Amino acid sequence: MTASPAGPEWAAAMRALAAQCGRAPSAHNTQPWQLRYEDSGVGVYWDPMRALPVSDPTGRDLFLGLGAYLETCLVVAAGAGLGADVVVDVDRAARRVAWLVPAAEPYATRFTANDVASRRSARGPYAAGPLPDDVLDEAAALVEDAGGIRHLPARALAPLLARADRWMFAAPEVTAELREWLRLRPSHPRYAQDGLTDRALGLSRAEAAGLEMMLRPRVYGTFRRAGLPAALAASSRGLLRGEGTALVLVGPAAAGPAELVALGRALMRSWLALAVRGLATHPLSQILDCPATAAELAAMLDLAAHERAVAVFRTGRPLIEPPRSARRGG
Ligand SMILES: Cc1cc2nc3c(=O)[nH]c(=O)nc-3n(C[C@H](O)[C@H](O)[C@H](O)COP(=O)(O)O)c2cc1C
Repeated sequence: MTASPAGPEWAAAMRALAAQCGRAPSAHNTQPWQLRYEDSGVGVYWDPMRALPVSDPTGRDLFLGLGAYLETCLVVAAGAGLGADVVVDVDRAARRVAWLVPAAEPYATRFTANDVASRRSARGPYAAGPLPDDVLDEAAALVEDAGGIRHLPARALAPLLARADRWMFAAPEVTAELREWLRLRPSHPRYAQDGLTDRALGLSRAEAAGLEMMLRPRVYGTFRRAGLPAALAASSRGLLRGEGTALVLVGPAAAGPAELVALGRALMRSWLALAVRGLATHPLSQILDCPATAAELAAMLDLAAHERAVAVFRTGRPLIEPPRSARRGG
């Protein structure tokens, strides 16, 4: 395939790549992007039913995910020899984030469609040991046009994660929204389409059945004040033991949608660089969602008033091969 300057062939060529582009990551695997193919370009919009208004009221993860999606599209198009560029054009009323437009040259990237396909979130145990300095330097270099990367021992986040998980499971609306996106048994009608499956979460059949039961509105409603949030939070207790590394993407404190899109593109580049080395990522966004733990993290990292952590994730070599996550359209 060759780069065509514009017009219907370019849009058709982009359409043919949609499934590969759709391997981009998104919070709760909602895949919020919606595409409108026009001769002048592809409008990238978001579906309000796939935003997370309760757990992501500011749209932080929405715009990071859309940024990751746009970066993924450029990498996939480049792999097909197709020139493409991103023009960010946020219109909240129209729910548009950007245009993908034809470009004379394919996007300059060292990542491939294969890297996109092999990247994984992994929520199970990771091999012990910190990330080597050259990997940290590489991740930092890949985000520097949008923000910075800080690192800390994953272990240091353990108390924050426990507190953030308890906060999350104590909030009925947040838990209800999470429940909407959980697919805890293979018979769920959207199991292969979107959301978080039992397999993606690394749960055994018994654990998945237990979680499903505890999150049932009547059970949750009855036991919410009787220790259920702490019991639910306990499942992630062991994750941050050991000597692993957590990375934090830091951007401007006042980052609006356009800056978050740039940060999402940067995040995707760093995740691809880690994937190339066989490393997976496990975002722990609840630490940023919970105001108390977000403030604690900012203090731990000594962030300046003009800085804000926008993504936090542990990373490492997964000891259990993570499953391929579900996608709409297969
Ligand atoms: C902005 C953003 C925030 C995310 N936050 C979390 C999180 O807090 N916890 C988690 O387990 N996964 C989180 N994820 C990972 C997604 O759930 C994951 O990308 C999605 O389920 C698809 O799986 P994959 O990354 O293996 O393709 C996040 C992803 C993005 C892009």
